[in-house]
Amino acid sequence: MQDFTFQNSTKLVFGKEAENTVGKETVKYGRKVLLHYGGGSIKKSGLYDRVVESLRKEEVEVFELGGVKPNPRVDLVREGISICKENEIELILAVGGGSVIDSAKAIAAGAKYDGDVWDFFTGKAEINDCLPIGTVLTIPAAGSETSGATVITNEDGWYKRATGHDLMRPKFSHLNPVLTYTLPEYQTACGITDMIAHILERYFTNEKNVELTDRLCEATLKTIINNAHTVLKEPTNYAARAEIMLAGTIAHNDSLSTGRIGDWASHDIEHEISGIYDIAHGAGLAIVFPAWMKYVYKHDVNRFAQFAHRVWGVEIDLNNLEKTALAGIQKMEEFFTSIGMPITLNEADITEEHIDEMAQKGTERGPLGNFVKLNEEDVRQILQLAR
Ligand code: NZQ
Ligand code: ZN
Repeated sequence: MQDFTFQNSTKLVFGKEAENTVGKETVKYGRKVLLHYGGGSIKKSGLYDRVVESLRKEEVEVFELGGVKPNPRVDLVREGISICKENEIELILAVGGGSVIDSAKAIAAGAKYDGDVWDFFTGKAEINDCLPIGTVLTIPAAGSETSGATVITNEDGWYKRATGHDLMRPKFSHLNPVLTYTLPEYQTACGITDMIAHILERYFTNEKNVELTDRLCEATLKTIINNAHTVLKEPTNYAARAEIMLAGTIAHNDSLSTGRIGDWASHDIEHEISGIYDIAHGAGLAIVFPAWMKYVYKHDVNRFAQFAHRVWGVEIDLNNLEKTALAGIQKMEEFFTSIGMPITLNEADITEEHIDEMAQKGTERGPLGNFVKLNEEDVRQILQLAR
């Protein structure tokens, strides 16, 4: 096990009506707030009104910026930064999913920086100050509600890039599983796939003697798998929605990566796909992860066999661990298909036209991954396998 320092300082407020106390948390950081949200789901559901009411009760002055698109764009981030600078905003309240929260994080860092916010995503500048962020989460998926990361798309070249800093971890996140009842089936499934991927990125490590975190990963995966079909069939099942929502946070709050080094190549490759094709991140991961696994499983067949057995219930064939490993990958593919995810580029109507470009862009800052290091040719082959 590696040495580590772990701190996740986000205050979680979880449960029914959690959004109604968001004003009380907000006012601890100031009375001028930028309320940031997406394309309108929060207005349709009535959540917007409840959040504004909670802020007004605490006499918070509310500035607004809606319109965040899935795969959030840097242009809107720049607009948010101007609003913050002009109005001396003290906190950004993101009400929505990973896209809204990521956009809020980029605005928060950009509001404390004199240059262009894209500098943080190209490595030209480092984040060293940031406005505080609070969130009301409406879709369990990206884990951005407690992560220090943000992923933003620049339409100039269609680059989707991530940056991170502990300063960007939300100060508080309010999670009410009831808010997820209105999610379309497809978005629910994309979220489930993303949280599974966040655990897999951590699970496939070269670190030895990590039994506890292996088993915590497996338990979280099994909980997601056990509840996935229930939330799809019964969208208003509180118990199942709550399990999925908590799992989404646990999957990405970094507790599962304590003492181990994760991989993250599949995420980087996926960002190239959603950067160019603007598909949902979860759907892209359902395509990339199985292909990545087929490409690298021989690197540690034992670990893949363990995954197959403990997570998917595949019987271990001690004489043929490779067979066990491959059966686990197949079970995972069947699961993704059963929840409505594409598992090939073809199924997502993606042709091979941009495969070379994605492999080149994805590796232009060096090889991807840690479990196995991948160069441009490896990424090209994984994308070919994903066809
Ligand atoms: O925009 P609105 O109208 O709100 O609709 C959204 C959006 O169309 C809708 N939605 C959200 N909650 C809803 C709802 N519709 C009905 N009822 C609700 N309760 O769902 C759609 C997708 O929302 P989005 O925020 O894009 O989803 P998600 O949370 O999956 O976020 C995806 C983004 O997060 C990034 C991804 O790359 C992607 O850009 N990621 C961020 C990470 C991080 N910051 O740590 C890590 C992840 O690996 C990921 O890369
Ligand atoms: Zn993800």
